Amino acid sequence: MPSFQTSPGTRDILPPQATRWRRFVQTFADVVEAAGYDHIIPPMFEDIGVFLRVGEATEIVTKEMYDFEDKGGRRVALRPEQTASVCRAFVEHRPTTPWKVWYAGPNFRYEKPQHGRYRQFDQVGIEVLGVVDPQLDVEVIALASEFYARLGLQGVRLAINSLGDDGDRERYVAALREHFTSRLAELSDETRATLERNPLRVLDSKRSQDAAAIAAAPSMREFLGPDAAAHFAAVQDGLRRAGIDFVVDDRLVRGLDYYRRTTFEFTARGLDAAHTAIGGGGRYDGLVEQLGGPATPGIGFALGLDRTLLACDAEGAFAPPSSRVDAFVVDTTGGLHAAELCTALRRAGVRADRAWDGRSMKAQMKSADRSGAGVVVIVGDDEVSAGTIIVRTMENGSQRVVARTEACDAVRAALGH
Ligand code: HAM
Repeated sequence: MPSFQTSPGTRDILPPQATRWRRFVQTFADVVEAAGYDHIIPPMFEDIGVFLRVGEATEIVTKEMYDFEDKGGRRVALRPEQTASVCRAFVEHRPTTPWKVWYAGPNFRYEKPQHGRYRQFDQVGIEVLGVVDPQLDVEVIALASEFYARLGLQGVRLAINSLGDDGDRERYVAALREHFTSRLAELSDETRATLERNPLRVLDSKRSQDAAAIAAAPSMREFLGPDAAAHFAAVQDGLRRAGIDFVVDDRLVRGLDYYRRTTFEFTARGLDAAHTAIGGGGRYDGLVEQLGGPATPGIGFALGLDRTLLACDAEGAFAPPSSRVDAFVVDTTGGLHAAELCTALRRAGVRADRAWDGRSMKAQMKSADRSGAGVVVIVGDDEVSAGTIIVRTMENGSQRVVARTEACDAVRAALGH
């Protein structure tokens, strides 16, 4: 038994998966930078007050926050998400609007670890501050869809809803409280506790005991004010025009309290029932104000990297890249020629590796095989005195003796570059 293992809910992302993660982020950057989003890197921990604004009644805040007092007596928390950090940064730096940013990185929530649910998990996301236009909601959702398409992920379902404006949402919450209170006896104990804290979250309960009361609950649609209703209609119209399939799910409330108007969630058909949400987002008009800034509308989304890759695995999409080198240098004279040749090849853009510890020709050839290199360069005493090298193409075993000075060109030609 090793002395230490990773903590529950955390894991090592080993090769070649780590390279796949980097490509995932790069693909995301390609999609959103083409739409004018700039990269932002907020800190991984902040004053806990920043995150309390995501909703004091949410589980993310009440149960799952990694918060602690630092050595200076400050109450800080590891970020459970990055929307609040982006809004805090907006208030702190006052950039001109619209401010369009994207981010990638780890978040921390003290959840019960399971397959697809981790305590440290990565997200990529975008946020836009300063625009109320429903066409922006459509663009934001379209960018997520475009990204899934770039990954080659097909079984993605989009659900949307509107949580209305401030007053609408409050009236709806009051109506839900009244409805569920009138059916208290049939609700599960856990759901009764949720009702106390946040009646909206009762709609998220997956317990069969609660299903009938939830099915009979009033719908948010009836509570939308005229502005929020017109906004929601325009978003749906825009999605149809953009050819993006969606369903309206008026039970979609999401796990954070800051949402107003448009909310949306992407689920993957390939994942098992418990953790199918691979991404979500919405409008959070009001969050910037709560953080001490001027009234500023906001919208964005975050996509779970860990879970999206599980969905890719289920479909055989976005396969891990190969970590093979192009060329492997076998040097039976001690290794100094291998060093020189590798440096020259790498500078010429050829991925090159070599063996170490002055091993035998046979052992080095075995390493060359294992490396997956398409071409092996061989130097022994004879080649050194003749100023040549042997270039062997692994696929068919054919070999060529070429001048040492031609090494890079000959290797590239053998690789078909
Ligand atoms: P969220 O729905 O809490 O939203 O998280 C977004 C995605 O992160 C989820 O759909 C899921 O894929 C992934 N995720 C969340 N928790 C875990 C976990 N414990 N393990 C693995 N994956 C997880 C937000 O975070 C909002 N900030 C999204 C947003 C941006 N809204 C507006 N702008």
